[in-house]
Amino acid sequence: MLINRLIAALPDTTIKENLPLSALCTLRVGGEAEIFAAPASIEDMRILFDIVMREGCPVYILGGGSNVLFPDGKIKGVVISTSNLNKIEWRTSITADIDAGFRLPSIMKELREHNLAGMEFAAGIPGTLGGAIAGNAGAGGHGVCELLDYVIAVESDGTIKTWDSSEIAYSYRKCSLSEGQRVIVSARMTFRGAKQKDAEVLESYLLRRGSQPHGLSNAGCTFKNPEGNSAGKLLDECGCKGLSAGDAVVSDMHANFILNRGNASASDILELIRICSRRVYDSTGIRLEPEIKIFSPGFCV
Ligand code: EPU
Repeated sequence: MLINRLIAALPDTTIKENLPLSALCTLRVGGEAEIFAAPASIEDMRILFDIVMREGCPVYILGGGSNVLFPDGKIKGVVISTSNLNKIEWRTSITADIDAGFRLPSIMKELREHNLAGMEFAAGIPGTLGGAIAGNAGAGGHGVCELLDYVIAVESDGTIKTWDSSEIAYSYRKCSLSEGQRVIVSARMTFRGAKQKDAEVLESYLLRRGSQPHGLSNAGCTFKNPEGNSAGKLLDECGCKGLSAGDAVVSDMHANFILNRGNASASDILELIRICSRRVYDSTGIRLEPEIKIFSPGFCV
């Protein structure tokens, strides 16, 4: 059996069977991973990815769980978590090697301690660096991919490749590294010395974050902003605030946030995503594209 082979090949890696993913996702929904593995090192990640790729079973990469939606029920295949790859090593006064599982709020803390700047736009964004690179997470027209020197990834053929920033294409919530199957394991990032003005910029980002819902479980913005428009504004104008499906509800504070009132299922969230996108399409002709990474096979809005 695959799980026995993985346990034998990777004695230091956390490997579990039938692990509920809801506890690992900020929406607090999702079923059980048939196999869950959190490699102890980059080399373990390489061995694991090589084995599961050869096996040909479905593979899902899980970072901080703050922007993903797994379906209910049994999730066949292997969910690979980067949670044990979480080191940061400063190479120069402004350059650090950061593991994929290191969280953005922890990077922000490091920058404060080193009196560095350049990533103010990421203030208040949860999740891990790997997930943030894969989706070029950001705000205000900026994304984390801007700060990359290079990215190290485990490729689907079981090799480790270093992608120089010049080989990585990125745009709003997009990064070329997420096309194709690979696992981002680490990145080198360069920041700059902080100036007086950076503190104000950071404050303004935190202020905008403050006007977003907090308290109830959510996965941040549900849809990407369409070119030249705001998804939140469109959803609001189409009367989506307060719409619900089961225990999933559209926030009254910001229409691009779906909240789990406590007992929502992944199907409730998916249903609400469909309802909202249909409403916007019917009244504006604009097709909103989910920003949340939806792992349900065949799901389309
Ligand atoms: N608006 C409404 N009604 C709403 C929500 C928003 O009218 O219910 C209006 C606002 O008043 C504003 C405009 O829409 O005029 C834009 O709203 P906001 O400033 O909240 O920004 P956003 O474009 O909705 C983006 C990112 C957020 C990020 C904020 C602030 C996307 C999809 N969203 O939101 O990122 O926090 O800017 O920097 O790009 C996320 O990625 O998960 C996320 C929440």
